[in-house]
Amino acid sequence: MTIAEEDISTDTPRPPEVETKAPVGRGRLVLEKIDKTFPGTRMAAVRQLSLTCEPGEFVVVVGPSGCGKSTLLNVAAGMLKPEGGRVLLDGRPVNGPGPDRAVVFQDHGLFPWLTAGQNIEFGLKMAGMGKEQRRHRVQEALRMVHLSQSGGKLVHELSGGMRQRVAIARSLVMNPSVLLMDEPFAALDAQTRTLMHAQLQDLWVQTRKTILFVTHSVGEAVRLADRIIVLHAHPGRIRTEIAIELPHPRNFDSREIGELVHRVRREIEDEVNRVNAQMAEYWKPQTPDDMGGHLVDMGGGI
Ligand SMILES: Nc1ncnc2c1ncn2[C@@H]1O[C@H](COP(=O)(O)OP(=O)(O)OP(=O)(O)O)[C@@H](O)[C@H]1O
Ligand SMILES: [Mg+2]
Repeated sequence: MTIAEEDISTDTPRPPEVETKAPVGRGRLVLEKIDKTFPGTRMAAVRQLSLTCEPGEFVVVVGPSGCGKSTLLNVAAGMLKPEGGRVLLDGRPVNGPGPDRAVVFQDHGLFPWLTAGQNIEFGLKMAGMGKEQRRHRVQEALRMVHLSQSGGKLVHELSGGMRQRVAIARSLVMNPSVLLMDEPFAALDAQTRTLMHAQLQDLWVQTRKTILFVTHSVGEAVRLADRIIVLHAHPGRIRTEIAIELPHPRNFDSREIGELVHRVRREIEDEVNRVNAQMAEYWKPQTPDDMGGHLVDMGGGI
């Protein structure tokens, strides 16, 4: 994949009157004693799982394949109904999908017959927003992901990284309180992923959305998280929580990041080994070494 991304300096000026920042104190996501067992399975996918994401917090969930990360995210999104427990957003029960919680998946899920801008605009149109306001919102969302010059391109004309940025813009344009991200960068090459990490942090610093992010990669988790949740598999529940107290945006080449990756990796290796001893599928946590790449000479764009 090429990194044919736009240069940030080519961006058009920011249009006025566009709300992108989450209001202070908005976006408190609470999962309370969640139980979820899929029909036809004996083992619960998640059991008695409780997790609170504070407004503006960046929480990353890691754990072995099949430990319940996506289940947890889909329950938070309201796309899966748990048998037990409840989800609250800012104190209100979540009973289904809603515009206050945007989801970004590994597969961008864009409509291939629409342009980047039209994909971003789609939800606003469905919500009945007027044309002029939609235009401003789309322009602002494109600016935030450094794609101001690419709004007219069709999906097949965009690189993988650009497509994921459009998917993120499509979520942001609805101004949700919470962004739920399920391995959004897993299909990208290491260099593009590094660029995405830098710019997602940038975006997060600008918008202060609450982010609940799922990944297999310890390096990705340490780069992005305020707090890392390590899940215990079969059934899925929280094994450890690790606070990452480095300021954002982070210097990925710093010694502290490297040391933290080793510490977190050691902490989760026990769990991975335990799971690997039970499971046929092998999973090994990734580190920045696996991800490779630096930010040097990579141009603009996520
Ligand atoms: N629709 C479904 N029907 C039956 N079982 C399911 C379904 N979805 C998930 N499961 C099971 O629930 C458990 C948790 O799955 P989940 O997809 O949440 O794991 P995960 O941690 O996201 O895995 P991965 O890292 O591979 O994406 C697994 O054992 C899985 O087989
Ligand atoms: Mg998953």
